[in-house]
Amino acid sequence: MELASAHGHRGQIPWRGLLLTASLLTSWSAPTTAQVTIEAVPPNVTENKNVLLLVHNLPQTLRVFYWYKGTTTDGKNEIARFITSINMSKMGPAFSGRETIYSNGSLFFQRVTKKDEGAYTLFMLDQKFDRTVMSVRFSVHPSLLTSWSPPTTAQVTVEAVPPNVTENKNVLLLVHNLPQALRVFYWYKGTTTDGKNEIARFITSSNKILLGPEHSGREIIYSNGSLFFQRVTKKDEGAYTLFMLDQKFDRTVMPVRFSVHPEKHH
Ligand SMILES: *[C@@H]1O[C@H](CO)[C@@H](O)[C@H](O)[C@H]1NC(C)=O
Ligand SMILES: *[C@@H]1O[C@H](CO)[C@@H](O)[C@H](O)[C@H]1NC(C)=O
Ligand SMILES: *[C@@H]1O[C@H](CO)[C@@H](O)[C@H](O)[C@H]1NC(C)=O
Ligand SMILES: *[C@@H]1O[C@H](CO)[C@@H](O)[C@H](O)[C@H]1NC(C)=O
Ligand SMILES: *[C@@H]1O[C@H](CO)[C@@H](O)[C@H](O)[C@H]1NC(C)=O
Repeated sequence: MELASAHGHRGQIPWRGLLLTASLLTSWSAPTTAQVTIEAVPPNVTENKNVLLLVHNLPQTLRVFYWYKGTTTDGKNEIARFITSINMSKMGPAFSGRETIYSNGSLFFQRVTKKDEGAYTLFMLDQKFDRTVMSVRFSVHPSLLTSWSPPTTAQVTVEAVPPNVTENKNVLLLVHNLPQALRVFYWYKGTTTDGKNEIARFITSSNKILLGPEHSGREIIYSNGSLFFQRVTKKDEGAYTLFMLDQKFDRTVMPVRFSVHPEKHH
């Protein structure tokens, strides 16, 4: 016990501590030290709120630790790792953009969705490359405000409001349930997502809007995904395509269309 505290104060190891270090090394990773435990705070989190996977008594002598989604430690399920020797984190393929890994072992999740519910696994490697694996889980329940909508797969949908608009009036291409963790989304005129058909894009990470060659000066792109058209003409009638890229660069394409009819003249 005395040695554990001597070890904790680097550079201040008393001579007595040095003498005892040799015998200590052999029993170093013996499970006599305080047991690692993980808890989800809170264990049952409201959708769109945050949760912390809190690690107690993370061993001091780790080389690296990894967080995985699920209970298997396959490479494709890796959210992030923390390399202790260089004090650096690295994101894995299962990183959604909403997780933060801390040097103390904990993993912080922002704006959880129902899909985040389930098990997570912490995998630790010590100086002798001995492995320790621990899992934790949390539930996600819908918030009261949104409990009227299906709580599970909130599918992204697009509708034109109105679908049949009078010439010179406005139309909104309204996006419901835009995924939270997008890198970027684009709006295109027509059904092909060629660069020359781009109206505008929204870069989520930097909150930046870039206009494309098809931007007529009458369209406004919103951070919630929607595209607002002002003073439509007959030539605006037809199909439009929303193209989304998530953190893993997975693509989702959603078409929508509206008609334009002439103003009534009396
Ligand atoms: C989580 O909390 C909600 C709201 O209090 C409750 O309806 C649900 O049963 C809880 N789920 C679990 C797994 O505890
Ligand atoms: C680890 O760090 C996070 C972020 O600073 C903090 O919220 C959490 O309480 C820390 N965990 C422990 C066990 O100290
Ligand atoms: C690791 O990096 C964090 C954040 O930059 C810093 O607070 C901490 O002191 C560093 N630890 C070591 C051992 O270098
Ligand atoms: C749009 O509305 C106009 C006027 O009500 C109607 O004449 C026309 O048929 C409608 N077009 C479509 C495609 O629904
Ligand atoms: C997106 O923002 C626009 C402009 O503020 C608004 O009209 C529209 O209702 C919003 N869409 C959703 C789904 O909230």
